[in-house]
Amino acid sequence: SYEGEEITRAPVVTVMGHVDHGKTSLLDYIRRTKVATGEAGGITQHIGAYHVEDQHGGVTFLDTPGHAAFTAMRARGAQATDVVILVVAADDGVMPQTVEAIEHSKAAGVPMVVAVNKVDKEGADFDRIRNELSQHGVISEEWGGDTQFVHVSAKTGDGIDALLEAVLLVSEVLELKAVPEAPAKGVVVESQLDKGRGPVATVLVQNGTLKRGDIVLAGLHYGRVRALVNETGTRVEEVGPAMPVEIQGLDGTPEAGDEFIVVADEKKAREVANFRQGK
Ligand code: GTP
Ligand code: NA
Ligand code: MG
Repeated sequence: SYEGEEITRAPVVTVMGHVDHGKTSLLDYIRRTKVATGEAGGITQHIGAYHVEDQHGGVTFLDTPGHAAFTAMRARGAQATDVVILVVAADDGVMPQTVEAIEHSKAAGVPMVVAVNKVDKEGADFDRIRNELSQHGVISEEWGGDTQFVHVSAKTGDGIDALLEAVLLVSEVLELKAVPEAPAKGVVVESQLDKGRGPVATVLVQNGTLKRGDIVLAGLHYGRVRALVNETGTRVEEVGPAMPVEIQGLDGTPEAGDEFIVVADEKKAREVANFRQGK
């Protein structure tokens, strides 16, 4: 363990729910409207995760919606998500993948906030949704349970601020902490081989601070961090806890859910990576 001052860190959120209930639309809306682009007309970049700040605090979204990403991460032992947003379309109700998402969240012990989406559409039946979810043990606060339900529209943006507030309320209870002064460790969110830049990985720093020049060991791969790029496409020198960042400099593409750590010695990193690769 590392001696250093603990700070409260932002929650990391995964959006889950049935097909077409609006996971991607919700993530896109929040990304489009909440990610600071630095300059007017700037565009955000898709790096597999992003961080937003408002007056209430920061929230980091894993921008890989769906159960596949969540399950893949958990299968590799990574517990990256603090809070799940369960999206349920108001005009469709609880569907098989809604139930699956509830089971995944419960199995992982991750608290949920329900986003009843598409409230702009006709045919929304909120009591029906509350009723159906209660049959799966997800009971709204209005009904005496402990789950916040927020009515949103990923189309109009209605309720999105309330949704972020609900997430922050849940995360306050979790008392999420991190030590910024420690060497970074975290989890790989996604990676790909870029024609020009070589292997590029989006990582989530869970503890410590990741800096340019750090030697990173990630799954089967290692390398010296040559560049860090955030979700606004800006090159940064370092990122702290609960922040996602795209890194360049690895010698290959680690898997989503692989742990990454910063190590002091490049030779050691190479040895471990080679050992893991069976070389
Ligand atoms: P999969 O990734 O395929 O599981 O779907 P998804 O959950 O990501 O849903 P997606 O965001 O692709 O939305 C499905 C459809 O619903 C699209 O046509 C969206 O435009 C529409 N949609 C999503 N949110 C809303 C909303 O709040 N209101 C309305 N009217 N349409 C919405
Ligand atoms: Na869809
Ligand atoms: Mg989608």
